Amino acid sequence: MIEKRAPGKLYIAGEYAVVEPGGSAVLVAVDRYITVRLTEGADRGRVRSSAYGRTPLEWVRDDAGDRIILEHHPTDYVFAAITATEQLRSSRGLAPRYYDLDISSELDDVSGQKYGLGSSGAVTVAVIAALDEFYRLGLTATERFKLALLATIDVSPDSSGGDLAASTFGGWIRYSSPDRGALRTHRAAVGTVETLFADRAWAGSGVSRLPHPNHLDLLVGWTGSPASTERLVEQVRDAEGRPAVIPYDSFAGDSRACVDDLAAAFARGGEGALDVVHRARRVLQRLSASSGVLIETARLRALCDIAERHGGAAKPSGAGGGDCGVVLTRTEGPAGPADRIIREWRENGILPLSLAPHPAT
Ligand code: MEV
Repeated sequence: MIEKRAPGKLYIAGEYAVVEPGGSAVLVAVDRYITVRLTEGADRGRVRSSAYGRTPLEWVRDDAGDRIILEHHPTDYVFAAITATEQLRSSRGLAPRYYDLDISSELDDVSGQKYGLGSSGAVTVAVIAALDEFYRLGLTATERFKLALLATIDVSPDSSGGDLAASTFGGWIRYSSPDRGALRTHRAAVGTVETLFADRAWAGSGVSRLPHPNHLDLLVGWTGSPASTERLVEQVRDAEGRPAVIPYDSFAGDSRACVDDLAAAFARGGEGALDVVHRARRVLQRLSASSGVLIETARLRALCDIAERHGGAAKPSGAGGGDCGVVLTRTEGPAGPADRIIREWRENGILPLSLAPHPAT
């Protein structure tokens, strides 16, 4: 059996602006995981999952080796990850084989509601890692990330890929997104995914690792209401597909300055990081005011205000509209601000998620 797990993620700065080609964000991978267990199958392939593709995915092959899907399946990330990796396997002349994938998740609550910790990205990364080992493709981390992004483009064309980068590389990262529109067009034109690893649309994109800020604690609160990132990103965009904030350049500039300043603060061990996270919350509030999209729900506002009252720096993580809020505080030990924030969150119906950064891989 092959077992691969991929961590969830949190956005610390750069949301929405990172969706534009060349946009950037700061993220951290967290120690909650999607786990994929792969066993070789005899006469068919199956995906079983408590959290994904509630309709089971099942397939056989015809005489030419092409997959015939037996069960109806939603267009989902697992299917996209399998399809992209099988395309790569085929272009390398390797024979197809059957396998069963069992998928489990720590990124949902007991009733299956998603926390907003990047479960779609994590499941894509974990499935690709399992198939990479199964077919002995020998992919590098960067190639696995690129394959995951190429798979995701079909399911969610607007996704920046920041979650995939955090899930693949772990730790704290600064991420710059490639031109996914160009990659999508080029994929349709060239057919094989491997040739796209060197496509010019990746120019200027990539991941740089940031040092762990030793003197800061990371807290995460869950609002209890899941949000649809795709719907929110769509709502924030104008007819040209750019965030509908006026003036756009000022939003993009403010967002990028937060990302740059946060990366610089982490390089100094975290000094000045709290101020930057404060600013990043205001940048999202201005985006919300000018686009009319509710990023900070009442529960997210309460979550952030409580943390700020106790000296933390807080903001929605990701698209907002529910999901999680993220807080950085100075490390002060027992009875420090973290304990006070958590107590008041609980009194206000906000669930603290116990998690920590997943180390860089
Ligand atoms: C959502 O988690 C973060 C957004 O920037 C979308 C994305 O990066 O794909 C809003």
